[in-house]
Amino acid sequence: MSGVNRRDFIKTSVAGIAAATTVGAAAKSPNAATKTEYPVVDVAPLGSLAPGAEVAFDYPDADSPAVLLRLAAPVAGGIGPNKDIVAYSMLCTHKGCPLNYLADRQMLVCPCHWSSFDPAKSGRLVIGQASQSLPSVQLDVADGMVRATGVDGLIYGRHTNIL
Ligand code: FES
Repeated sequence: MSGVNRRDFIKTSVAGIAAATTVGAAAKSPNAATKTEYPVVDVAPLGSLAPGAEVAFDYPDADSPAVLLRLAAPVAGGIGPNKDIVAYSMLCTHKGCPLNYLADRQMLVCPCHWSSFDPAKSGRLVIGQASQSLPSVQLDVADGMVRATGVDGLIYGRHTNIL
């Protein structure tokens, strides 16, 4: 270390590490354009949803397929006059494969490793490789329109659902 004594070298090194840490933290922090609220998205007119209805939509963005279902009976968390309308992410919580809805079994089933989720029980995992239940899409009804307003749970592949 020609021309630099041990104390100066340590001071310079500590300052360099602090600067690098600050830059790293800034790169990971949300920027000013980060949205902090979910969008409100029209999904389907309430009057169009006959028992057994299945409506595919994307929420909260185009990378997130979801499905609205009108089930055969009232369920916990269901909306509408009969409390039988629910919606879920269609990305399997195991490795993100798109799910299929099997109407005859009223079950959301993954074609990759056969995890099954029950839409009548808050998207609960019934069987399979996944370890988490499905995120549910929060719904409301305004002026006769069923709308998506948020997500309860973490959509596969995201560190956060905040956009
Ligand atoms: S990706 Fe769905 S069970 Fe593996």
